[in-house]
Amino acid sequence: MTKTKTMTKNMTKTMAKTMAKNMARTGATNPLATNPLSTNPLSTNPMSGDGRLKIALQKSGRLSEMSVGLLEKAGISLTKSRDQLLCRAHNFPLDVFLVRDDDIPAFLATNVCQVGILGQNALLEKQALFAEKYAALEEVMALGFGRCRLSIATPTSFEYRSVDSLNGKTIATSYRGLLEAYLRDKGVEADIVTMEGAVEVAPRTHLADAICDLVSTGNTLISNGLQEQDVILQSQAVLIKNNNMDSELQEIYEKILSRIRAVLRADNSRYIMLNSPIDSLDAIKAVLPGSASPTVMPLQGREDMVAVHAVCEEEVFWTTMEELHRNGANSILVVPIEKMLD
Ligand code: PRP
Ligand code: ZN
Repeated sequence: MTKTKTMTKNMTKTMAKTMAKNMARTGATNPLATNPLSTNPLSTNPMSGDGRLKIALQKSGRLSEMSVGLLEKAGISLTKSRDQLLCRAHNFPLDVFLVRDDDIPAFLATNVCQVGILGQNALLEKQALFAEKYAALEEVMALGFGRCRLSIATPTSFEYRSVDSLNGKTIATSYRGLLEAYLRDKGVEADIVTMEGAVEVAPRTHLADAICDLVSTGNTLISNGLQEQDVILQSQAVLIKNNNMDSELQEIYEKILSRIRAVLRADNSRYIMLNSPIDSLDAIKAVLPGSASPTVMPLQGREDMVAVHAVCEEEVFWTTMEELHRNGANSILVVPIEKMLD
């Protein structure tokens, strides 16, 4: 965790006043009193209660680049501060906190931030461990990146028939909450060793018989002689929010939400252009994937052909293009869409 200056050193009277005003307005309890973080994020954020929405993103790691990229695609340009913990958007009322993903739920629960982007795995783990504290955090939408799964894996020498094979064994994990819930559900009794990282080396060092860890490509498991056995959870990046926004922040939040929706739709959509014989227009329309009403235009000097333009809200595969071609289409162009708003 990045070291920030301590509150006592940094907090001015004006800041204290602004904070008090903000807390009264949002009805929040003093985050400093309940904040589990060792450093105080508010010390870098004297502008709390300034009508700017605060979003927490992962500072480094698997989601970080994509999260910042998503905001940028939504037209929000960020200027990094010198300590790199806080970024300000200069064309949108949004401040970005770059923190450890593990800390994001706490930033929202204490209302230092109102929204965040993190892996479902990280949110669900916190909720499994501290149900009451994080109950009010809400998953708003899946973002389609950072896909991974939380799985149980064993050394290839382990004779694994089902999850029952873990009875009486020791499992190393950074996801005690989710693993415990899973084992309870399956009626399996096993010992859990909590590790912060490098879980995959636990079996080799005889710390554990099995592990429960995130798997993405599977390379980590393979290079450590481990075999994936059971998937506990499928995960991806999600947008989350707390229920502590006043109407001013709510409005900003809804604007961001609609922009993010538009970005995701555009990312998943393609613009397709082709020339089609008038006779086979119906057949060609039927082949166009995920497109409700294509635009049909005359082609100058051609009585028998028309131009067809359509937005396809799904991937356009080579096989689809070949089928269009078989139906008489030519000059088929598929291009990405940058922005899209209904
Ligand atoms: C996760 C997980 C594995 C690795 C799996 O660690 O703990 O080590 O990714 O990915 P793979 O299947 O593509 O090999 P992460 O990189 O998030 O870092 P950490 O273990 O230090 O938290
Ligand atoms: Zn790891």
